[in-house]
Amino acid sequence: MLFIGCDHGGFELKIEIYNYIKDVLRLDITDMGCFSKDSVDYPDIAEVVAKSVLEKKGIGILICGTGVGISIAANKVDGVRCALCSEEYSARMTRKHNDANILALGGRTTGVELAKSIVNTFLNTDFEGGRHTNRVNKIACQ
Ligand code: RB5
Repeated sequence: MLFIGCDHGGFELKIEIYNYIKDVLRLDITDMGCFSKDSVDYPDIAEVVAKSVLEKKGIGILICGTGVGISIAANKVDGVRCALCSEEYSARMTRKHNDANILALGGRTTGVELAKSIVNTFLNTDFEGGRHTNRVNKIACQ
């Protein structure tokens, strides 16, 4: 299952990515807000998406102005591995090596077409397992 969320800084990019996932990739995705450009606190959105991803063993996409704040917040939830990506290579490698379960994007830093490519790569790359499994298992919130 796919979940997406943003703050006001990521609102416009979120609409683009939500529509791309639904209409082009033809995947089901749940929009967990925010639903307007009114100011909201990104940790609240990060927590809602993070908990849904863990509960449903799904994949999340989080967008704030830079992607930084919302990724920091998501990574405070034990079991979340949220990767902020601004190019495709990192999106591919973080799925292969880190088994990232949430992708963070910057709505004010990453253009729409590049963001779509990053999302497509993230969603279509699998975790490699093997030597990476032990490393990923060592990641835990204290
Ligand atoms: C909101 O203005 C902005 O601080 C937020 O979207 C994000 O960029 C924080 O990291």
